[in-house]
Amino acid sequence: MKLALFGYGNVGRAFARLLAAQRKAYPFRIVAIQTLRHGTAFDQRGLPIEPEFGTHVPSIDEFLDRARPDAVVELTTLNPATGEPAISHIRAAFARSKHVVTANKGPIAHAYAALKEEARRAGVEFRFESTVMDGAPVFNLVRHTLPGCKIRGFTGVLNSTTNVVIEALRAGRTLQEGIEQARRIGITEADAAFDIDGWDAAAKTAALANVLMDAGLTPLEVDRRGIGRLTPEKLLALKAQGKTIRLVSRARRTADGIKLRVRAEVIPDTDVLASARATSSLLLLDTDLMGTLGMLEIDPGVDQTAYGVFSDLVDIARR
Ligand SMILES: NC(=O)c1ccc[n+]([C@@H]2O[C@H](COP(=O)([O-])OP(=O)(O)OC[C@H]3O[C@@H](n4cnc5c(N)ncnc54)[C@H](OP(=O)(O)O)[C@@H]3O)[C@@H](O)[C@H]2O)c1
Repeated sequence: MKLALFGYGNVGRAFARLLAAQRKAYPFRIVAIQTLRHGTAFDQRGLPIEPEFGTHVPSIDEFLDRARPDAVVELTTLNPATGEPAISHIRAAFARSKHVVTANKGPIAHAYAALKEEARRAGVEFRFESTVMDGAPVFNLVRHTLPGCKIRGFTGVLNSTTNVVIEALRAGRTLQEGIEQARRIGITEADAAFDIDGWDAAAKTAALANVLMDAGLTPLEVDRRGIGRLTPEKLLALKAQGKTIRLVSRARRTADGIKLRVRAEVIPDTDVLASARATSSLLLLDTDLMGTLGMLEIDPGVDQTAYGVFSDLVDIARR
């Protein structure tokens, strides 16, 4: 299967390394890569992990027409406010009847229903496992293994930066010191306020609700409050009571429709939500037929994000 990549940063390179390691069993080939500042690369025989980039091809249409891929992999930078340019990349792929896999949650949080319908009309697959909890099979769990199950709601701890900052506050350090620590680990978004103010968690909450509950909501419609007002004093006082805080995402169906919320919640140290520490994340699905079902992802890295993209492509290739 020939692949064209939009974006070749941390995830793109980890994905290329994974493909190289799995080549014998899974013969995927990257034949084109588009970046923003590094230029564009093409080779129908397959590009090496460190390709030589040529002149930047600014037109999305020209890039795809020259690439002639079977599937498009969208790995560009997240724009939490609009979901672009990823949405345009995905639409251009559908217009050419190409399958799409993305790790970029912007399109799922902003335009999932429309994109799903466009993929259906084009007769192609649209997959996005890595958009929430990296490669942990959240969407694929529901798609493949819970037939007939209705997702009534969910509870999640989905943002790693806030986990790290809360632990820093609990150790008596400041919010800024906590943010610096998260930055050193390499998990903050380019603008850390996006994590601290709850926008990243809101985007993931909207993405999960759109796919699992047909919510049709955007991050702007999530009732959101971040952790910017927390202090070391507050966390130390809670610690003395055997309690802590997590930035918790919640979704539930009500008579007035689906409600989405992101809040810093006080929880006992022994609460299952408290087990999401540092870069770990956790999701509990409230289902009608299977009760509450949970998934804990411990200390994932960029290789797990790359694996989610890979697993989506393997699934598409099998079809
Ligand atoms: N890193 C993770 O662990 C992780 C986990 C889950 C999901 N994700 C998502 O995966 C995506 C990629 O993340 P990353 O860490 O690989 O980001 P990154 O290292 O910042 O790389 C982004 C890539 O996108 C390219 N790009 C930006 N705008 C573009 C445009 N308009 N056209 C073509 N290429 C463009 C950049 O080009 P240049 O190289 O020229 O700058 C760069 O190659 C993001 O949406 C992120 O939210 C990441």
